[in-house]
Amino acid sequence: MNQKKVLVTGIAGFIGSNLADRLIAAGHKVIGIDNLSYGLKEQIAPEAEFHKLDIRSKDIYPVFEGVDTVFHMAAKNCLSDCQRDPVDTADINVVGTVNVLEAAKRANVRKIIYAESSDVYSGLKTFPTTEEKMQPETFYADSKAAGHFFAQSYVKYHKMNIAGLRYFNVYGPRQDWRRTDRPIVSEFIIQLLRGEKPILYGEGERSKDYIYVDNINDFHLLAMENSFTNGQVYNLGSGIATSFKELLDATQKLLGTKVEPELRPSLSFGVERTEADISKARALGWKPKTSLEEGLKKSVDYIKKYVIPKL
Ligand SMILES: NC(=O)c1ccc[n+]([C@@H]2O[C@H](COP(=O)([O-])OP(=O)(O)OC[C@H]3O[C@@H](n4cnc5c(N)ncnc54)[C@H](O)[C@@H]3O)[C@@H](O)[C@H]2O)c1
Repeated sequence: MNQKKVLVTGIAGFIGSNLADRLIAAGHKVIGIDNLSYGLKEQIAPEAEFHKLDIRSKDIYPVFEGVDTVFHMAAKNCLSDCQRDPVDTADINVVGTVNVLEAAKRANVRKIIYAESSDVYSGLKTFPTTEEKMQPETFYADSKAAGHFFAQSYVKYHKMNIAGLRYFNVYGPRQDWRRTDRPIVSEFIIQLLRGEKPILYGEGERSKDYIYVDNINDFHLLAMENSFTNGQVYNLGSGIATSFKELLDATQKLLGTKVEPELRPSLSFGVERTEADISKARALGWKPKTSLEEGLKKSVDYIKKYVIPKL
C-alpha cells in the first residue's frame, strides 16, 4: 500500500470522522482541521494529527504543506440554521471553501475531493436526478452551488485535480443528532427507543434517497486514486427513494415496535423527493454495498450505546 498524507477538513463531524477512521485503517497518515463548531473532539481518531482551526483563516495554509490529498468536508449544513443566517452560511461554505482550494493550490496538493450536496438539485422536479442540471433553492444549496463554481474555476485556471461529491441523505454512526433539526433517520430511532410517538408530516409520503456512510467512504477511497474523477462531480446515493412512512416502518420492524405515528400537516419547507441517478459513480466500479436494513441496524446500535445515555 502506498501510504499518503491526507488532510480532512471537518474531521470532528459525522462524515469527516468516519472517513478519517477508514483512511487510517487503509494505512494513510491523516491530518484533520475542524473548529469544533458542530463536531466533537472525541470523534476524532487518536492517530490523526488534529488542528483546531477555522477553514476561513489563512492559518490553515501551513497545514497543507506536503499533503497528497485533501477531503474538504467542513461546512455549515443544518438547513434551518443556514436559512436563518445566509451571511454566515456564505462565509463558511463559500469563503471557507475557496480558502481551502487556495491553500491546496499554494501547497501543490495532488488531489482535492470536496462535499457538494444533493440540495443543489432542490428546485428540480425530475427523478432520478443526473449530474447535468443544478437548481439550488435554499441558502445552503446556493452556498454549495457557489462552491462548485469556484472549484471548477480552480480546475480551469490552475489545472487542479478536483472532484465534487453530491451526497444524498447520508446516515450512520455519529450522524449529528444534536443539530437544530434532527436528521430523520436518527429522529425516528431516538423517538422509538425513548417510547415517544414518532411524528409523520403529511401522509409520510415525502421521499429521500438514503445512503449509508461506509458506502460513501468506499467512493472516497476509490476517487482518491482514480484520475477519471478529476474535474468531475458525482451523485452519491443509493438510487432508491424511500418515503418517510417506509423508513418509519423499516425502523419499527427492526426495533420490534408498532407505535402509531402522530400525523401533522405537510412541512412547507424542504424538498419533497430526492432520488439519485448514480450511473456515473457506478461506471467507476463503485456500488453501495450496505442495504438500508443493515445500515439502520448499525445506526440503532450506535444510538443505543452513545446517544440515548446522553439524552
Ligand atoms: N450528512 C449528509 O447527509 C450530507 C448530505 C449532503 C452533503 N453533506 C456535506 O458533507 C459534508 C460533511 O457533512 P456532515 O454531515 O459530516 O456534517 P457535520 O456537521 O457533522 O460536520 C461538519 C464539520 O465541519 C466543522 N466546521 C463547520 N464550520 C467550520 C469552520 N468554519 N472551520 C472548520 N470546521 C468547521 C464542524 O465543526 C463539523 O465537525 C458537509 O460539507 C455537508 O454539507 C452532508
